[in-house]
Amino acid sequence: MACQYFAPCEHGAESFTIEIPKVTFGRGVLHEVGERAQALGMKQVALFTDANLEHGPYVASVKQSLTNVGLNFQIFSDIRVEPDDVCVDEAGKFLSSGNFDGVISVGGGSVIDAAKAAMVCAKYPRPVRDYFAPPVGEGIPIPGPLYPHIACPTTSGTGSECTSVSVLRIRELNTKFVFASPHMLPDAAVIDPTCCDTLPSNVVASTGFDLLSHALECYTAKAYSQWGAVKNPNARPLTQGANPWSDLAAVKALEIAGEYLVRGVADASDHEARDQLMWGASLAGMAFGNSGTHLPHALSYGVTHLMKDITTDGYAIKTPFVPHGISVIVTAPATFRYTADAAPERHLEAAKFLNADYKGADFKDSGEIVANRIIELMKQTNMPNGLNGVGFDENDIQNLSNSSIRQTRAIGNSPRETNFVDIENIYKNALSYW
Ligand SMILES: [Fe+2]
Repeated sequence: MACQYFAPCEHGAESFTIEIPKVTFGRGVLHEVGERAQALGMKQVALFTDANLEHGPYVASVKQSLTNVGLNFQIFSDIRVEPDDVCVDEAGKFLSSGNFDGVISVGGGSVIDAAKAAMVCAKYPRPVRDYFAPPVGEGIPIPGPLYPHIACPTTSGTGSECTSVSVLRIRELNTKFVFASPHMLPDAAVIDPTCCDTLPSNVVASTGFDLLSHALECYTAKAYSQWGAVKNPNARPLTQGANPWSDLAAVKALEIAGEYLVRGVADASDHEARDQLMWGASLAGMAFGNSGTHLPHALSYGVTHLMKDITTDGYAIKTPFVPHGISVIVTAPATFRYTADAAPERHLEAAKFLNADYKGADFKDSGEIVANRIIELMKQTNMPNGLNGVGFDENDIQNLSNSSIRQTRAIGNSPRETNFVDIENIYKNALSYW
């Protein structure tokens, strides 16, 4: 590959692998789900959603389309925002107790991630925690294929419909962890931006920053050629570092975030902006699902582990809760100021894709320029001002760092070698920005 960023290095990977589902995008395409399910051989469908969506129009569209082609279905809706392993084990029991031959998930990342994990428990029965890497779990590899799965996102952020990743809270540890396997990649993603028409603006903002950070993290991630080569091609992780494919999707997703995030938050009737954000979220999923994220996501898990009371308008959850996209973006400006030294050209290019003012800029300014552009977007969308804005202060830095240091794969995907002290410093520099 003729790109300096992916230059070969000794004992480094010389190849990369790309996997994405069959993607259908457009207004009204939820009506096509029945035919898609039929094409995948489904006859008895487990339909995963949440209690808020269960009786709403999107699930109704999917149910109607299944009925139209004569498919049977049963609904499992006991999935809360940011599901945990106990919830997934129950969902797995539901799935294994029926005579299901396919899964359809309709919801945000929480629903889609729970469906992916429930399929693992149902097909290869054991507690889902066993599949997480030690010391959280046993590190059991997912042995083989799961159920045919059609994922239908109803928010424009996680991109989970296009990734083989599931993020779950482990209830006993009260912390989120990631597990991934190519077997968890949905067979089809049916993406209907109509679902975003009625989303509250702060949900569009937090999910939009998730998409922005997915794209920015995979564009600035360590190059795949910097990771060690794998002997077994089937064991090559999809969190394999930046590569030419993830660049392609990440660049477009960054351009979409730069142009449409503020508009989509400000005006629910701006269908052009909200449709673009939905497409950008899926593109960012196709990108980071084949590269992995890095420090902002690693550090976000400390924030959601130790989260405090903040406003959660627009979310049907009453316990202390920091929406995922906010937990990511509050440390992002400080992170990119830190990582820019290791890949200044990439950071400057990313700032340009985000519509930053970069005229006359030098590579040494790249961290500042990209950070300032993120801060500008945060201000324009009423995001909290750094960690202070979600209730943390300097007394929390140690605990936040202790929590996040466990996210070894994402930390290892940073373009800059990062240790515990570096993480403490990023958190300190993320306390407030304006
Ligand atoms: Fe995310």
